[in-house]
Amino acid sequence: MTVQQALRIVDEDEEGIDNAFRRDVLRGLSEPQKAVPARWFYDERGSELFEEITRLPEYYPTRAEKEILRAHGSDFRRSIGAGRAVVEFGSGSSAKTPLLLQAIEPAAYVPIDISGDFLRASARRLAEKLPDLPIHPVEADFTQPVTMPAEIEGVARLGFFPGSTIGNMVPRTAVDLLRDMRETLERGSPDGHPPLLLIGMDRIKSRKILIPAYDDAKGVTAAFNLNLLTRINRELAGDMPVDAFRHRAIWNDDIARIEMHLEAQHDISFTVAGRAFTMQAGETIHTENSHKYGRRSAAALLLAGGWTPVDRWNDHESQFMVILAEASPLRSAP
Ligand code: TRP
Repeated sequence: MTVQQALRIVDEDEEGIDNAFRRDVLRGLSEPQKAVPARWFYDERGSELFEEITRLPEYYPTRAEKEILRAHGSDFRRSIGAGRAVVEFGSGSSAKTPLLLQAIEPAAYVPIDISGDFLRASARRLAEKLPDLPIHPVEADFTQPVTMPAEIEGVARLGFFPGSTIGNMVPRTAVDLLRDMRETLERGSPDGHPPLLLIGMDRIKSRKILIPAYDDAKGVTAAFNLNLLTRINRELAGDMPVDAFRHRAIWNDDIARIEMHLEAQHDISFTVAGRAFTMQAGETIHTENSHKYGRRSAAALLLAGGWTPVDRWNDHESQFMVILAEASPLRSAP
């Protein structure tokens, strides 16, 4: 899993996780459109439920992306070439990575993750699978520029960002991240070999497919969303009436994104960390976005972040895409 790492941007070290959680929740519940940042989904139960989501029949993105990575190895080999250092942003369990690494004969693998224990355990497991590949794990928050290990100084790089995690960020944040990734990869790149980026993005498609993917029949996604309230009650001395809330997945067609909300079924009042809140029937707490892209909107996002798309692959139903982009040359004239 990568999303929780991707979204855990914070100053936890300075202020402690409880304080950061309290601050985000109190601030979010005080806004006109109530909202809680998605990174707080992932306590132990939340992480388990998320794993379960990725195996649901309705949840196509994980399967579709794996299909692409499995089917297009020789294309990756041709477009990317051998001998690059593969730098994965938010590597998590590195579950999809072997499919890529086996295809392209990389010089090294650099998994970046904020969870050091997870990172080292995953690196050990991968080393058993690919004993000849040098692996240099970096424990860092990739939402800021990251210093690359000395071992890949002068080695051409390929960034890898699967899972459509970019879609969980609003475009402004996504562009900041793409620029930071470019900076991370460019420092220490050899002249004449601009960095490449292989990125997974979910495609715009029918509501009929999108809504069930984020509101499944078994209610796993609902449980995942509602678990946030249980966590708030437990960790922030809250008395939110969990049963009064309903999970909602909404397709926002104007900005092409799925939104997850928690909707109050009737007027309620509750307290969190000693502060009182009220919600009217129908009012929601916004908890997650998942932006979907088409070929052109994906290109616009990547270009704004300093990356020029050079290749693109879809699964057989064109539900998901994996895009290869190259760091755009810096120039002021057209
Ligand atoms: N990035 C994936 C997606 O948007 C995974 C994900 C993030 C997700 N948060 C989620 C899936 C919440 C379901 C519910 O689809």
